[in-house]
Amino acid sequence: MCGIIGYVGGKPAVEVALEGLRRLEYRGYDSAGIAVVDPDGSLRTRRRAGKLANLEKVLAETDGWAGTTGMGHTRWATHGGPTDANAHPHVDCTGTVAVIHNGIIENFAALRAELERAGHQLASETDTEVVAHLIEDALSAAEPTVTIADALRVVCGRLEGAFTLVVTHSGSPDTVVAARRNSPLVVGLGDGETFLASDVSAFIAHTRAALEIGQNQIVEATRAGVTLTDFAGTPVEGRPFHVDWDVSAAEKGGFPYFMLKEISEQPTALADTLRGRLSDDGGIVLDEERLSEQDFRDVDKVFIVACGTAYHAGLIAKYAVEHWTRLPCEVEMASEFRYRDPVLDRSTLVIAISQSGETLDTLMAIKHAREQKARVLAICNTNGSTIPRESDAVLYTRCGPEVGVAATKTFLGQVAACLLVGLFLAQVRGVLYGDEVGANVAMLQQMPGLVEQTLATIEPVRALARELADAKAVLFLGRHVGYPVALEGALKLKELAYMHAEGFPAGELKHGPIALIEPGLPVVVIVPSPRGRSVLHGKIVSNIQEVRARGARTIVIAEEGDTDVEPYASHIIRVPRTPTLLAPLVTTLPLQVLACEIALARGLDVDQPRNLAKSVTVE
Ligand code: G6P
Repeated sequence: MCGIIGYVGGKPAVEVALEGLRRLEYRGYDSAGIAVVDPDGSLRTRRRAGKLANLEKVLAETDGWAGTTGMGHTRWATHGGPTDANAHPHVDCTGTVAVIHNGIIENFAALRAELERAGHQLASETDTEVVAHLIEDALSAAEPTVTIADALRVVCGRLEGAFTLVVTHSGSPDTVVAARRNSPLVVGLGDGETFLASDVSAFIAHTRAALEIGQNQIVEATRAGVTLTDFAGTPVEGRPFHVDWDVSAAEKGGFPYFMLKEISEQPTALADTLRGRLSDDGGIVLDEERLSEQDFRDVDKVFIVACGTAYHAGLIAKYAVEHWTRLPCEVEMASEFRYRDPVLDRSTLVIAISQSGETLDTLMAIKHAREQKARVLAICNTNGSTIPRESDAVLYTRCGPEVGVAATKTFLGQVAACLLVGLFLAQVRGVLYGDEVGANVAMLQQMPGLVEQTLATIEPVRALARELADAKAVLFLGRHVGYPVALEGALKLKELAYMHAEGFPAGELKHGPIALIEPGLPVVVIVPSPRGRSVLHGKIVSNIQEVRARGARTIVIAEEGDTDVEPYASHIIRVPRTPTLLAPLVTTLPLQVLACEIALARGLDVDQPRNLAKSVTVE
């Protein structure tokens, strides 16, 4: 949600910023802008509504900008529509201070009224612009020796809400300053150059040495590196880390869309999540464990909090966690969690699932949980992000960068990571014996191969998708772990193809939604294995018959060898045999491909669907 890059070094800042914005565009693509400070101290800005290409066009007509200090922004609109005037950077009345921002300044209306009363001219409808004018005031009120970092510190003291702010000032041509509270910011430390960015992909082509920044901190970046202070001006330290993937991972690698590449990467991504998770003595290994085994033994209830696709991974996890640990497990949308005052104490384990590690709803949920003394374990794909930092223990999904807005490979990583956490809890609590944990891990470790096998036979799904491109709506039905898979299939179709889609528990259909069935309506049914939980299987075969009897076009996802579904299926999509709890790792795949191909057939951009952003850093 809004991508930010700041640069100070020896290269043309406009080029570094544009390259960074290309990698950050997944965070928002309503408008983009750039600011560069020339060596003579003049501040130049350009901004344009629409995708980055519009800004690039304008910059191509501009004479080469020599400045090697600058910044860029790609926007997901919150305050004010996606117009040129609302695009970042925003400047003050003197045109010497430029600001870019990710987050929401909640008290901006009061600040704006105050600034206007004092004679400032505000040119946009954004919350961000007040910061430029407040900095202008802070600079003019203070001694001339006061730095831009001091001015930003003063201003941060007046701001409510969440923000990452990056500021360039014509009076400080060799410095870029930034501030962060509850929005993402990482530093890239190059050789004679320093980067500030929403995530490491923005500078990965230049350096893999990164620094994690804490909350409520000010960063002063020069070519030599950074100076960090808190909002009171006290020096603080960042946490250095090495980015363990390179620039090729953040590129399309011959695929027309990142989403297609990321779908194809799922066998590797899943294998990477699972790699090295079993210790020599057969125990499960987390990444950063700041909790003792006793803390885990004391857990008497589990909450899973997450948003979007990560929430669906949590819904799947519930079945495994309860089955393996015998602990009650509730799954809650992070945006609802703290407002309903859940019952939490020090024996509650809250599992926060987030690909980006920056989703503000999830971050606020875990902050609330920790205030109530609950323990928090994060499942996250992004090293150096906020949610792991604010948690007591972390398990990284290690799926590599995911650029397509619709989550695919990280969903599989999240499901696998949740299953590992379930086994870990069962192990430390002594509910499962070591050999039972080991047997489950061994089955999990076979899943990357089965994912590969499923993707190798997915071509007919693409052909089917093209046939469905004109459907008015699609329903998805599932039972047990197939129900969250149905929800995920429907979400994918909504976000990518802008089609009406709903996921239902197959048994609930007869209590209302069956009224939606009309002749020809595509209904996708995720069928559980006939082995193991045969009751479930029998019930869902009846549900398929019910919709088929009312004229639906039934698209059935069933495991190899399940012949019972054949008489009632308009189309069968086969998946390999898996244990029931692991089945979502394969049954989700055709749904991802279906949604992606329907969207492509409708001429849509599957990497950047309308109105969405990959990392949502506002509540
Ligand atoms: C946004 C994205 C979704 C994603 C959700 C949670 O809404 O568009 O694809 O599932 O955020 O993101 P997270 O980074 O916390 O997993």
